[in-house]
Amino acid sequence: MEQKCYPQKGDYGKPSFYARQEIISFWVMKGKRRIGSISFMRHHTYNENPDIWPPRCHGAIFTISFAVIPRYQHGGIGGIMMAWLIAYARTHGFMKIYSTIRVSNMASIALHKKFGFTVKSLISQCYTDAENGFVLELALPPKAGCSS
Ligand SMILES: CC(C)(COP(=O)(O)OP(=O)(O)OC[C@H]1O[C@@H](n2cnc3c(N)ncnc32)[C@H](O)[C@@H]1OP(=O)(O)O)[C@@H](O)C(=O)NCCC(=O)NCCS
Repeated sequence: MEQKCYPQKGDYGKPSFYARQEIISFWVMKGKRRIGSISFMRHHTYNENPDIWPPRCHGAIFTISFAVIPRYQHGGIGGIMMAWLIAYARTHGFMKIYSTIRVSNMASIALHKKFGFTVKSLISQCYTDAENGFVLELALPPKAGCSS
């Protein structure tokens, strides 16, 4: 499914990559078709060196893939997926969500900013074709009534 969504090859892993235990994936279905997907790592964060596996970080979610099939893009599904991810993070007590995004990926940057993400840093030559990547961060304050 990622192959259909990402314009650049290498921005998604092989199926064996997504089968790794630390990565969990959810799909948006239309009938029996997968039309959207989110893959992320719980209690992990980004790495400045993209060749190194994302390190563990308690309380953080690191998104691995966030994609909608081209035919269904611009229809609000990405927004629904992002709202779902944030609700998932809050429900499970996560305090941060991180995504790394190509600097040229205006759609994804705008989607993240719409939901309150801010640019935390820039990773030089983050992608296989040497494009730089922004790290976007969303801080989730503890729920009201939580004393810790
Ligand atoms: C990024 C992506 C998931 C957005 O999904 P989508 O279903 O098209 O997004 P939505 O229709 O829900 O739009 C939600 C918001 O995203 C932003 N957005 C989406 N497409 C955009 C575009 N082409 N240009 C600028 N902003 C865009 C807007 O802020 C939009 O809010 P608005 O409609 O109020 O302006 C989708 O474009 C995609 O799958 N791209 C290819 C894979 C990819 O690059 N994934 C991100 C990797 S980090």
